[in-house]
Amino acid sequence: MDRRQFLKSSSALLTLGAMPNILLATPSEGFDYELIVAPADVRIAPDGNTPAWCFNGHFPAPVIRAKQHQPVRIRVVNKLAEPTTIHWHGLRIPIAMDGVPFLSQAPIMPGESFDYEFTPPDAGTFWYHPHMNSVEQLGKGLVGAFIVDEAEDPGFDADVVMGLKNWHIRDDGSFTALTTPRNAFRMGTPGRLMTVNGKVAPTYYIPTGGAIRARLVNIDNTQTYNIRGDGGDLTIITVDGNPIATPRPLQQHLMGPGMRLDLGFIAPDEADQIVTLYHKHEVLVRFKTVGESKQRQAMPRLPLNPIPTPDLDNAETIQFAFEWDASINPVKKDGKVNYRFWTINRKAWHGMSAKHIPEPLARLERGKTYIFELANLTQYHHPIHLHGHTFTVLDSNKQRIEPFHTDTVLLGQNETARIAFVADNPGRWMYHCHVIEHLKTGLMGYIEVS
Ligand code: C2O
Ligand code: CU
Ligand code: CU
Repeated sequence: MDRRQFLKSSSALLTLGAMPNILLATPSEGFDYELIVAPADVRIAPDGNTPAWCFNGHFPAPVIRAKQHQPVRIRVVNKLAEPTTIHWHGLRIPIAMDGVPFLSQAPIMPGESFDYEFTPPDAGTFWYHPHMNSVEQLGKGLVGAFIVDEAEDPGFDADVVMGLKNWHIRDDGSFTALTTPRNAFRMGTPGRLMTVNGKVAPTYYIPTGGAIRARLVNIDNTQTYNIRGDGGDLTIITVDGNPIATPRPLQQHLMGPGMRLDLGFIAPDEADQIVTLYHKHEVLVRFKTVGESKQRQAMPRLPLNPIPTPDLDNAETIQFAFEWDASINPVKKDGKVNYRFWTINRKAWHGMSAKHIPEPLARLERGKTYIFELANLTQYHHPIHLHGHTFTVLDSNKQRIEPFHTDTVLLGQNETARIAFVADNPGRWMYHCHVIEHLKTGLMGYIEVS
Protein backbone atom coordinates (compact mmCIF):
# COMPACT_ATOMS: atom_id res chain seq x y z
CA MET A 1 0.00 0.00 0.00
CA ASP A 2 1.50 3.36 -0.86
CA ARG A 3 0.79 6.44 1.16
CA ARG A 4 -2.20 7.55 -0.89
CA GLN A 5 -3.90 4.19 -0.72
CA PHE A 6 -3.20 4.03 2.95
CA LEU A 7 -4.80 7.40 3.51
CA LYS A 8 -7.83 6.44 1.47
CA SER A 9 -8.27 3.12 3.18
CA SER A 10 -8.52 4.58 6.63
CA SER A 11 -11.71 6.56 6.86
CA ALA A 12 -10.91 7.87 10.30
CA LEU A 13 -7.71 9.33 9.00
CA LEU A 14 -7.99 12.99 8.38
CA THR A 15 -4.77 14.50 7.25
CA LEU A 16 -6.08 17.53 5.50
CA GLY A 17 -3.52 17.65 2.77
CA ALA A 18 -4.58 14.21 1.65
CA MET A 19 -8.16 15.09 0.85
CA PRO A 20 -8.20 18.53 -0.73
CA ASN A 21 -11.15 17.84 -3.00
CA ILE A 22 -13.62 17.84 -0.19
CA LEU A 23 -12.54 21.25 0.96
CA LEU A 24 -11.86 23.04 -2.29
CA ALA A 25 -14.23 24.67 -4.67
CA THR A 26 -13.26 23.80 -8.22
CA PRO A 27 -10.89 26.61 -9.13
CA SER A 28 -11.46 28.74 -12.21
CA GLU A 29 -9.50 27.70 -15.23
CA GLY A 30 -5.86 28.65 -15.05
CA PHE A 31 -5.85 28.71 -11.27
CA ASP A 32 -4.64 26.07 -8.88
CA TYR A 33 -6.86 27.33 -6.08
CA GLU A 34 -9.83 29.55 -5.68
CA LEU A 35 -10.50 30.96 -2.25
CA ILE A 36 -13.95 32.34 -1.64
CA VAL A 37 -13.93 34.54 1.42
CA ALA A 38 -17.38 34.62 2.96
CA PRO A 39 -19.40 34.19 6.14
CA ALA A 40 -20.28 30.57 6.90
CA ASP A 41 -21.83 28.75 9.84
CA VAL A 42 -19.46 26.10 11.08
CA ARG A 43 -19.66 23.56 13.86
CA ILE A 44 -16.83 23.89 16.32
CA ALA A 45 -18.50 24.30 19.72
CA PRO A 46 -20.27 21.35 21.38
CA ASP A 47 -23.79 22.82 21.34
CA GLY A 48 -24.21 25.02 18.30
CA ASN A 49 -22.89 26.60 15.13
CA THR A 50 -20.53 29.53 14.99
CA PRO A 51 -21.17 32.42 12.58
CA ALA A 52 -17.60 32.27 11.27
CA TRP A 53 -15.87 33.83 8.30
CA CYS A 54 -14.33 31.13 6.15
CA PHE A 55 -12.44 30.23 3.03
CA ASN A 56 -14.72 28.16 0.77
CA GLY A 57 -17.37 27.75 3.42
CA HIS A 58 -15.47 25.46 5.74
CA PHE A 59 -13.22 25.42 8.72
CA PRO A 60 -10.45 24.37 8.59
CA ALA A 61 -9.61 26.31 5.46
CA PRO A 62 -8.25 24.44 2.45
CA VAL A 63 -4.63 23.51 2.91
CA ILE A 64 -2.85 25.07 -0.03
CA ARG A 65 -0.10 22.87 -1.42
CA ALA A 66 2.41 24.45 -3.73
CA LYS A 67 5.70 23.11 -4.95
CA GLN A 68 9.05 24.72 -4.33
CA HIS A 69 10.30 26.65 -7.40
CA GLN A 70 6.99 26.18 -9.22
CA PRO A 71 4.42 28.91 -9.77
CA VAL A 72 1.12 28.70 -7.98
CA ARG A 73 -1.98 30.69 -8.96
CA ILE A 74 -4.66 31.52 -6.47
CA ARG A 75 -7.80 33.53 -7.13
CA VAL A 76 -9.29 35.21 -4.07
CA VAL A 77 -12.95 36.22 -4.30
CA ASN A 78 -14.22 38.56 -1.60
CA LYS A 79 -17.78 37.84 -0.56
CA LEU A 80 -17.54 39.65 2.75
CA ALA A 81 -19.30 42.97 3.24
CA GLU A 82 -15.93 44.64 3.80
CA PRO A 83 -12.58 44.84 1.98
CA THR A 84 -9.85 42.28 2.46
CA THR A 85 -6.45 41.17 1.15
CA ILE A 86 -4.70 37.83 1.61
CA HIS A 87 -1.13 37.60 2.84
CA TRP A 88 1.09 34.52 2.45
CA HIS A 89 2.94 34.45 5.73
CA GLY A 90 6.62 33.51 5.51
CA LEU A 91 6.88 33.27 1.75
CA ARG A 92 9.67 35.26 0.13
CA ILE A 93 7.75 36.50 -2.88
CA PRO A 94 7.52 39.82 -4.77
CA ILE A 95 5.89 42.73 -2.96
CA ALA A 96 3.00 42.92 -5.43
CA MET A 97 1.82 39.51 -4.18
CA ASP A 98 2.36 40.14 -0.47
CA GLY A 99 -1.26 40.96 0.21
CA VAL A 100 -0.95 44.07 2.35
CA PRO A 101 -3.43 46.84 1.59
CA PHE A 102 -1.91 50.07 0.27
CA LEU A 103 1.70 48.93 0.69
CA SER A 104 1.40 46.23 -1.93
CA GLN A 105 -2.07 46.25 -3.48
CA ALA A 106 -5.44 47.92 -3.37
CA PRO A 107 -7.94 46.28 -1.01
CA ILE A 108 -10.15 43.64 -2.62
CA MET A 109 -13.54 45.27 -2.33
CA PRO A 110 -16.74 43.29 -1.64
CA GLY A 111 -17.73 41.38 -4.76
CA GLU A 112 -14.27 41.77 -6.30
CA SER A 113 -11.47 39.30 -6.75
CA PHE A 114 -7.69 39.39 -6.93
CA ASP A 115 -5.35 36.94 -8.61
CA TYR A 116 -2.21 36.01 -6.75
CA GLU A 117 0.58 34.29 -8.59
CA PHE A 118 4.04 33.60 -7.27
CA THR A 119 6.79 31.00 -7.07
CA PRO A 120 7.76 29.93 -3.55
CA PRO A 121 11.55 29.76 -3.22
CA ASP A 122 11.48 27.85 0.07
CA ALA A 123 9.84 24.59 1.04
CA GLY A 124 8.07 24.19 4.36
CA THR A 125 5.09 25.05 6.50
CA PHE A 126 3.61 28.50 6.00
CA TRP A 127 0.13 29.98 6.26
CA TYR A 128 -2.23 32.56 4.86
CA HIS A 129 -4.57 35.13 6.31
CA PRO A 130 -6.11 38.52 5.54
CA HIS A 131 -4.19 41.69 6.35
CA MET A 132 -7.20 43.95 6.95
CA ASN A 133 -9.42 44.27 9.98
CA SER A 134 -7.28 41.46 11.31
CA VAL A 135 -8.72 41.09 14.81
CA GLU A 136 -12.06 40.20 13.28
CA GLN A 137 -11.11 38.61 9.96
CA LEU A 138 -8.53 36.26 11.47
CA GLY A 139 -10.40 35.87 14.73
CA LYS A 140 -13.54 34.70 12.94
CA GLY A 141 -11.72 31.98 11.04
CA LEU A 142 -9.89 33.33 7.97
CA VAL A 143 -6.67 31.45 8.66
CA GLY A 144 -5.25 28.51 6.71
CA ALA A 145 -2.12 26.44 6.21
CA PHE A 146 0.09 26.87 3.15
CA ILE A 147 2.44 24.00 2.50
CA VAL A 148 5.29 24.23 0.03
CA ASP A 149 6.44 20.74 -0.85
CA GLU A 150 10.13 20.13 -1.39
CA ALA A 151 11.24 19.99 -5.01
CA GLU A 152 12.06 16.37 -4.24
CA ASP A 153 9.78 14.33 -1.98
CA PRO A 154 11.68 13.72 1.27
CA GLY A 155 9.76 10.46 1.75
CA PHE A 156 7.66 10.63 4.89
CA ASP A 157 4.94 7.99 5.26
CA ALA A 158 2.41 10.51 6.58
CA ASP A 159 2.22 14.27 6.65
CA VAL A 160 -0.26 15.78 9.09
CA VAL A 161 -1.11 19.49 8.94
CA MET A 162 -2.55 21.00 12.10
CA GLY A 163 -3.81 24.53 12.60
CA LEU A 164 -3.93 25.55 16.27
CA LYS A 165 -6.63 28.00 17.21
CA ASN A 166 -8.15 28.91 20.51
CA TRP A 167 -11.63 29.99 19.37
CA HIS A 168 -13.35 32.90 21.07
CA ILE A 169 -16.64 31.03 21.36
CA ARG A 170 -19.08 29.79 23.97
CA ASP A 171 -20.44 26.25 24.16
CA ASP A 172 -23.43 27.35 22.06
CA GLY A 173 -21.05 28.49 19.33
CA SER A 174 -21.60 32.24 19.70
CA PHE A 175 -18.58 34.49 19.75
CA THR A 176 -17.15 36.05 22.87
CA ALA A 177 -15.24 39.34 22.53
CA LEU A 178 -12.30 39.01 20.15
CA THR A 179 -10.67 41.92 21.91
CA THR A 180 -11.09 43.92 25.07
CA PRO A 181 -9.12 47.08 25.86
CA ARG A 182 -7.81 45.61 29.09
CA ASN A 183 -6.36 42.58 27.33
CA ALA A 184 -5.15 44.42 24.23
CA PHE A 185 -2.70 46.30 26.43
CA ARG A 186 -1.56 43.13 28.12
CA MET A 187 -1.10 39.75 26.48
CA GLY A 188 -4.14 39.87 24.20
CA THR A 189 -7.61 38.42 24.66
CA PRO A 190 -7.46 34.65 24.93
CA GLY A 191 -10.04 32.40 23.31
CA ARG A 192 -11.96 29.75 25.21
CA LEU A 193 -11.91 26.64 23.08
CA MET A 194 -8.51 25.15 22.30
CA THR A 195 -8.74 23.37 18.95
CA VAL A 196 -6.65 21.60 16.36
CA ASN A 197 -8.18 21.89 12.87
CA GLY A 198 -11.36 23.06 14.58
CA LYS A 199 -11.63 20.00 16.86
CA VAL A 200 -10.89 19.59 20.52
CA ALA A 201 -8.04 17.10 21.03
CA PRO A 202 -8.58 15.10 17.81
CA THR A 203 -6.97 11.75 17.15
CA TYR A 204 -5.19 11.17 13.85
CA TYR A 205 -4.24 7.75 12.62
CA ILE A 206 -0.68 7.20 11.49
CA PRO A 207 1.02 4.20 9.93
CA THR A 208 2.67 1.93 12.47
CA GLY A 209 6.44 2.19 12.32
CA GLY A 210 6.19 4.94 9.71
CA ALA A 211 8.15 8.17 9.38
CA ILE A 212 5.75 10.94 10.35
CA ARG A 213 5.88 14.65 9.66
CA ALA A 214 3.60 16.58 12.01
CA ARG A 215 3.21 20.22 11.04
CA LEU A 216 1.89 22.64 13.62
CA VAL A 217 0.75 26.11 12.58
CA ASN A 218 -0.20 28.69 15.18
CA ILE A 219 -3.10 30.41 13.43
CA ASP A 220 -4.39 31.98 16.63
CA ASN A 221 -4.59 35.74 17.23
CA THR A 222 -3.23 35.64 20.73
CA GLN A 223 -2.18 32.32 22.14
CA THR A 224 1.43 31.29 22.60
CA TYR A 225 1.55 27.50 22.68
CA ASN A 226 4.09 25.62 24.73
CA ILE A 227 4.46 22.40 22.78
CA ARG A 228 5.45 19.20 24.54
CA GLY A 229 4.93 15.59 23.65
CA ASP A 230 5.21 12.02 24.76
CA GLY A 231 4.94 8.49 23.44
CA GLY A 232 7.54 8.79 20.69
CA ASP A 233 10.92 10.21 19.75
CA LEU A 234 9.66 13.61 18.74
CA THR A 235 12.27 15.63 16.91
CA ILE A 236 12.15 19.25 15.84
CA ILE A 237 12.94 19.19 12.13
CA THR A 238 11.82 22.65 11.03
CA VAL A 239 11.16 25.89 12.85
CA ASP A 240 8.79 28.41 11.26
CA GLY A 241 8.92 26.64 7.94
CA ASN A 242 12.66 26.27 7.68
CA PRO A 243 14.50 23.00 8.25
CA ILE A 244 17.11 23.34 10.99
CA ALA A 245 20.66 22.22 10.36
CA THR A 246 20.73 19.89 13.35
CA PRO A 247 17.34 18.36 14.20
CA ARG A 248 16.95 18.11 17.97
CA PRO A 249 14.67 16.31 20.38
CA LEU A 250 11.52 18.17 21.37
CA GLN A 251 11.63 19.08 25.02
CA GLN A 252 9.34 22.02 24.91
CA HIS A 253 8.94 24.67 22.27
CA LEU A 254 7.19 28.02 22.41
CA MET A 255 5.13 29.00 19.39
CA GLY A 256 3.78 32.53 19.33
CA PRO A 257 0.97 33.55 16.99
CA GLY A 258 2.08 33.10 13.37
CA MET A 259 4.83 30.62 14.19
CA ARG A 260 5.15 27.03 12.97
CA LEU A 261 6.87 23.85 14.03
CA ASP A 262 7.42 20.60 12.15
CA LEU A 263 8.04 17.54 14.27
CA GLY A 264 9.38 14.35 12.81
CA PHE A 265 9.14 10.96 14.45
CA ILE A 266 9.17 7.29 13.74
CA ALA A 267 5.78 5.98 14.84
CA PRO A 268 5.78 3.20 17.45
CA ASP A 269 6.36 -0.17 15.86
CA GLU A 270 3.15 -1.67 17.16
CA ALA A 271 -0.46 -0.90 16.29
CA ASP A 272 -2.77 1.04 18.66
CA GLN A 273 0.03 2.99 20.27
CA ILE A 274 -0.46 6.66 21.07
CA VAL A 275 1.80 9.64 20.61
CA THR A 276 0.45 12.80 22.24
CA LEU A 277 1.17 16.49 21.78
CA TYR A 278 0.33 18.94 24.52
CA HIS A 279 0.10 22.63 25.13
CA LYS A 280 1.54 22.66 28.64
CA HIS A 281 -0.54 19.86 30.19
CA GLU A 282 -3.53 20.15 27.91
CA VAL A 283 -3.82 17.54 25.14
CA LEU A 284 -3.73 19.14 21.71
CA VAL A 285 -3.75 16.06 19.51
CA ARG A 286 -3.17 12.32 19.63
CA PHE A 287 -1.70 10.11 16.97
CA LYS A 288 -2.63 6.46 16.96
CA THR A 289 -0.79 3.80 15.01
CA VAL A 290 -2.72 1.59 12.59
CA GLY A 291 -1.84 -1.06 10.04
CA GLU A 292 1.18 -3.15 9.41
CA SER A 293 4.53 -1.75 10.36
CA LYS A 294 6.46 0.33 7.86
CA GLN A 295 9.54 -0.62 9.84
CA ARG A 296 11.24 2.65 9.18
CA GLN A 297 14.60 2.95 10.85
CA ALA A 298 15.59 6.51 10.13
CA MET A 299 13.85 9.79 9.63
CA PRO A 300 14.11 11.41 6.20
CA ARG A 301 16.41 14.43 6.07
CA LEU A 302 15.15 17.75 4.78
CA PRO A 303 17.29 19.94 2.55
CA LEU A 304 17.96 23.44 3.90
CA ASN A 305 16.16 26.34 2.27
CA PRO A 306 18.17 28.62 -0.02
CA ILE A 307 18.24 31.57 2.38
CA PRO A 308 20.99 34.08 1.47
CA THR A 309 23.82 34.05 4.02
CA PRO A 310 24.14 37.39 5.81
CA ASP A 311 27.50 39.13 5.42
CA LEU A 312 27.93 39.91 9.11
CA ASP A 313 31.32 41.60 8.73
CA ASN A 314 29.86 44.33 6.57
CA ALA A 315 26.45 44.56 8.17
CA GLU A 316 24.80 47.70 9.41
CA THR A 317 23.06 47.44 12.78
CA ILE A 318 19.70 49.09 13.42
CA GLN A 319 18.04 49.13 16.81
CA PHE A 320 14.34 48.66 17.41
CA ALA A 321 12.63 49.06 20.75
CA PHE A 322 9.20 47.56 21.36
CA GLU A 323 7.32 49.18 24.21
CA TRP A 324 4.26 51.17 25.09
CA ASP A 325 3.72 54.86 25.31
CA ALA A 326 3.59 55.46 29.03
CA SER A 327 1.96 58.84 28.47
CA ILE A 328 -1.05 57.20 26.87
CA ASN A 329 -4.00 55.95 28.78
CA PRO A 330 -4.98 52.75 27.00
CA VAL A 331 -8.65 53.49 27.34
CA LYS A 332 -9.94 56.98 26.58
CA LYS A 333 -12.38 58.81 28.85
CA ASP A 334 -15.31 57.76 26.66
CA GLY A 335 -14.32 54.10 27.11
CA LYS A 336 -12.93 53.77 23.58
CA VAL A 337 -9.66 52.02 22.94
CA ASN A 338 -6.66 54.19 22.36
CA TYR A 339 -5.11 52.75 19.23
CA ARG A 340 -1.68 54.24 19.68
CA PHE A 341 -0.55 52.36 22.71
CA TRP A 342 2.13 49.95 21.57
CA THR A 343 5.14 51.43 19.81
CA ILE A 344 8.18 50.53 17.72
CA ASN A 345 10.93 53.07 18.33
CA ARG A 346 8.32 55.23 20.00
CA LYS A 347 6.08 55.26 16.97
CA ALA A 348 2.65 53.69 16.82
CA TRP A 349 0.85 52.97 13.61
CA HIS A 350 -2.84 52.47 13.86
CA GLY A 351 -5.01 51.64 10.92
CA MET A 352 -4.16 51.62 7.27
CA SER A 353 -5.58 53.75 4.56
CA ALA A 354 -4.38 55.03 1.23
CA LYS A 355 -3.73 58.44 2.73
CA HIS A 356 -2.30 57.21 5.97
CA ILE A 357 1.06 55.64 5.23
CA PRO A 358 3.71 56.82 7.67
CA GLU A 359 7.41 56.97 6.95
CA PRO A 360 9.18 53.60 6.98
CA LEU A 361 10.84 52.59 10.25
CA ALA A 362 14.03 52.05 8.26
CA ARG A 363 15.25 52.41 4.70
CA LEU A 364 17.45 49.55 3.60
CA GLU A 365 19.76 49.31 0.66
CA ARG A 366 18.99 46.40 -1.58
CA GLY A 367 21.55 43.59 -1.39
CA LYS A 368 23.10 44.77 1.88
CA THR A 369 23.14 42.79 5.13
CA TYR A 370 21.42 44.28 8.17
CA ILE A 371 21.47 43.30 11.78
CA PHE A 372 18.35 44.30 13.66
CA GLU A 373 18.70 44.54 17.39
CA LEU A 374 15.22 43.87 18.73
CA ALA A 375 14.62 45.00 22.28
CA ASN A 376 11.41 44.09 24.05
CA LEU A 377 11.14 46.66 26.84
CA THR A 378 7.93 45.23 28.26
CA GLN A 379 6.97 42.32 30.47
CA TYR A 380 4.79 40.80 27.74
CA HIS A 381 6.08 38.66 24.93
CA HIS A 382 5.92 39.70 21.30
CA PRO A 383 6.29 37.49 18.21
CA ILE A 384 7.95 39.98 15.85
CA HIS A 385 7.36 39.26 12.18
CA LEU A 386 8.96 40.66 9.03
CA HIS A 387 7.42 40.23 5.60
CA GLY A 388 9.28 39.32 2.42
CA HIS A 389 12.48 38.07 4.06
CA THR A 390 13.67 35.14 6.11
CA PHE A 391 16.16 36.18 8.74
CA THR A 392 18.70 34.42 10.91
CA VAL A 393 18.32 34.72 14.67
CA LEU A 394 21.88 35.25 15.90
CA ASP A 395 21.67 35.56 19.66
CA SER A 396 19.65 36.73 22.62
CA ASN A 397 20.38 38.15 26.06
CA LYS A 398 18.01 35.62 27.64
CA GLN A 399 18.68 32.27 26.03
CA ARG A 400 21.34 30.31 24.23
CA ILE A 401 20.56 30.28 20.55
CA GLU A 402 21.72 27.96 17.86
CA PRO A 403 21.31 30.36 14.90
CA PHE A 404 18.23 29.46 12.84
CA HIS A 405 16.10 30.89 10.04
CA THR A 406 12.66 32.32 10.62
CA ASP A 407 10.22 35.06 9.66
CA THR A 408 8.90 35.53 13.21
CA VAL A 409 10.93 35.68 16.40
CA LEU A 410 9.35 35.43 19.82
CA LEU A 411 10.77 37.99 22.23
CA GLY A 412 10.19 37.16 25.88
CA GLN A 413 9.94 39.62 28.73
CA ASN A 414 12.75 42.17 28.44
CA GLU A 415 14.51 40.04 25.88
CA THR A 416 16.82 41.51 23.28
CA ALA A 417 17.63 39.39 20.24
CA ARG A 418 19.75 40.10 17.22
CA ILE A 419 18.61 39.02 13.79
CA ALA A 420 20.41 39.35 10.45
CA PHE A 421 19.33 39.17 6.85
CA VAL A 422 20.21 40.24 3.35
CA ALA A 423 17.76 42.91 2.23
CA ASP A 424 17.35 41.36 -1.20
CA ASN A 425 13.64 41.84 -1.83
CA PRO A 426 12.66 45.34 -2.92
CA GLY A 427 9.46 46.78 -1.54
CA ARG A 428 7.74 48.15 1.53
CA TRP A 429 7.54 45.25 3.96
CA MET A 430 5.37 45.04 7.02
CA TYR A 431 7.19 44.58 10.26
CA HIS A 432 4.91 43.94 13.22
CA CYS A 433 3.97 41.96 16.28
CA HIS A 434 1.78 38.98 15.43
CA VAL A 435 -0.33 39.26 18.56
CA ILE A 436 -3.12 40.70 16.48
CA GLU A 437 -4.37 43.07 19.16
CA HIS A 438 -0.86 44.47 19.56
CA LEU A 439 -0.65 45.07 15.83
CA LYS A 440 -4.05 46.69 15.95
CA THR A 441 -3.05 49.04 18.75
CA GLY A 442 0.19 50.33 17.32
CA LEU A 443 2.84 47.62 17.20
CA MET A 444 3.40 47.68 13.48
CA GLY A 445 5.37 49.51 10.88
CA TYR A 446 7.26 48.74 7.75
CA ILE A 447 10.73 48.84 6.31
CA GLU A 448 11.57 49.89 2.80
CA VAL A 449 14.09 48.00 0.69
CA SER A 450 15.22 49.77 -2.49
CU1 C2O B 1 1.18 36.73 9.26
CU2 C2O B 1 1.83 40.65 8.49
O1 C2O B 1 1.57 38.66 8.83
CU1 CU C 1 3.71 37.80 7.04
CU1 CU D 1 3.14 42.13 20.76
